Amino acid sequence: MLELIRKSAWTKERRFLLYKYLDVKPNHIVVDVGCGTGAFSRVIAEKLDPKKGGRIIGIDRNPELLREGRKFAEIASFGKLISFKKGDIIKSIPLPDNYADRVICQACLWLMTEQDRQRAVNEMIRVCKPGGLIGACESAIDSSVSYIEGDEHHNRLLRKRNIAMVEGYKKRYGYDRRIGYLLPKLFKDLGLERIRLDGIAHIHFQSDDRVPMDFKMEEKRDSKLYPSRVLAKYGKLRDNRNRRAFIEKMEPSLLAGGMSFKEIIELMHFQKSRAERFLKNPDLFKEDTSVDAGITFITTGLKPKQGK
Ligand SMILES: C[S@@+](CC[C@H](N)C(=O)[O-])C[C@H]1O[C@@H](n2cnc3c(N)ncnc32)[C@H](O)[C@@H]1O
Repeated sequence: MLELIRKSAWTKERRFLLYKYLDVKPNHIVVDVGCGTGAFSRVIAEKLDPKKGGRIIGIDRNPELLREGRKFAEIASFGKLISFKKGDIIKSIPLPDNYADRVICQACLWLMTEQDRQRAVNEMIRVCKPGGLIGACESAIDSSVSYIEGDEHHNRLLRKRNIAMVEGYKKRYGYDRRIGYLLPKLFKDLGLERIRLDGIAHIHFQSDDRVPMDFKMEEKRDSKLYPSRVLAKYGKLRDNRNRRAFIEKMEPSLLAGGMSFKEIIELMHFQKSRAERFLKNPDLFKEDTSVDAGITFITTGLKPKQGK
């Protein structure tokens, strides 16, 4: 699932901006923390040149994901450029002080409480060279837009879902899903300099076929793949008892965030029947003028040079 989502997220157009914001150079040593299967590491690796000393080290606490990551890196012919190490970045990144030119992450810091996030970013700063850059790509749930053409009732429910997600994750896990725009303050508090907040918009508007395929979110544009994913997630909605168990398992944060069981079920049924309609008639999908959009925020800051 992680690979599928990531596959289409960094189109050529967005990579151009990403490299600019992270200011990645071919000779850089880069560390990607919470790298998972290394999808983000592979995006960054494209900008590095091993002949000039460029390389990237992915760190994750999950050995299974790292195993997959090694396979994917080999397949993409990045075997020499990307290496992986197991480590818990809250406790200690298994690398020396002042090691890398860039210490970056994607979709990792949201999975932490405020205190742990502070520890993790401090670790990122420790392994970064003085003058080097710390960068984090994280989204913010409440920056998402879901707009169904001509259906204000479901638009209201979709907005409510976003708010419930923010509240629910905070209550249940202590995670703040507004993380994308909360990091500049943390970076500042931890002593980083020249902090920037940039953003990359992800706008999914399915009917546009003027733009080359790899500039777009493939999964959304593929009229079969997107509805199939929705159905795979919601397909298990059957009788009432099943539904409650299913929702308690799949969407506990929505319940904790104030959405009622009835509202969650209604939204699920709505998405499920929409997906079924599109699967039956892919032309409908192309003509659909509904919009899904969100922002990936990129927070960057420089580690002060020694002696300042
Ligand atoms: C949503 S995934 C993102 C993976 C990858 N960065 C990407 O964008 O495809 C979050 C990753 O962070 C890792 N992670 C979370 N907390 C961590 C920690 N304390 N130490 C190391 N890895 C951690 C998880 O194991 C998981 O692989």
